[in-house]
Amino acid sequence: MIAAVLPAAGAGERFKHSPTDAPKQFIGLEGRPIYLWSLSTLAAHEKIDIIVVVVPQLSLDAVQAEISRVLPANQSEKIIVTAGGKTRQNSVHNGLERLGELTTPPAYVMVHDAARPLLTAKLIDQVVESVTANGACTVAIPVTDTIKKARDNVVGETLDRSELVQIQTPQAARFEWLLQAHRKAAAENFGTTDDSTILEHSGHKVHIVTGSPYNVKITNPEDLSLCQSLASVLEQRS
Ligand code: CTP
Ligand code: MG
Repeated sequence: MIAAVLPAAGAGERFKHSPTDAPKQFIGLEGRPIYLWSLSTLAAHEKIDIIVVVVPQLSLDAVQAEISRVLPANQSEKIIVTAGGKTRQNSVHNGLERLGELTTPPAYVMVHDAARPLLTAKLIDQVVESVTANGACTVAIPVTDTIKKARDNVVGETLDRSELVQIQTPQAARFEWLLQAHRKAAAENFGTTDDSTILEHSGHKVHIVTGSPYNVKITNPEDLSLCQSLASVLEQRS
């Protein structure tokens, strides 16, 4: 059994024009809330058996109702909605613990940011193939820009681009590896922004699945316009 955790419990501070704005994952992209894009792609995928969507406590009922209303029953019945925590790491950990409570916990789990709406079925297939062969993997893309360190608005050392990759999601692992790695990180107060780092911290080798620059993360307001353009291009292709 393969599960997915979709962290969607952030406040989206960098995206907001005003503090009272809704978190970015609930804003519309082509008429559908951002979180529903990757959620419906995961729910429609035959290899994904169960999905935990992690949302802010205050949105639990609204998200549950929207999922039941918008998605077909054979997809919405695969989905569990649960509350997130203060950081992304806490939210993913909550989702994993929820999966651990199932009578039969999954063999593998993939974690995908709700803020990356343009997830494709093909990328899910590649991640499933890698995680079942290697135990742990992350999607990443080669770095094409020159990357330098900077301090006080002045550039410094140039990093060797050939050794660098840009990390995306999905990231996936054997379920027990990722659950235990999160428990260890929490116990040690080891905080980070992604699950590949949590896995590395527990000594696991994380293999790379080459992704696509189209798998954009919506962080700042301009990223939404970029996704709008990409969504129509990708739609024409499919
Ligand atoms: N996330 C989460 N729980 C949190 C923080 C983040 O589930 N406490 C989720 C976000 O909803 C998003 C993903 O983790 O889908 C990646 O995080 P990021 O892009 O940083 O989103 P936010 O933390 O919401 O944005 P910001 O950092 O600008 O506040
Ligand atoms: Mg954040």
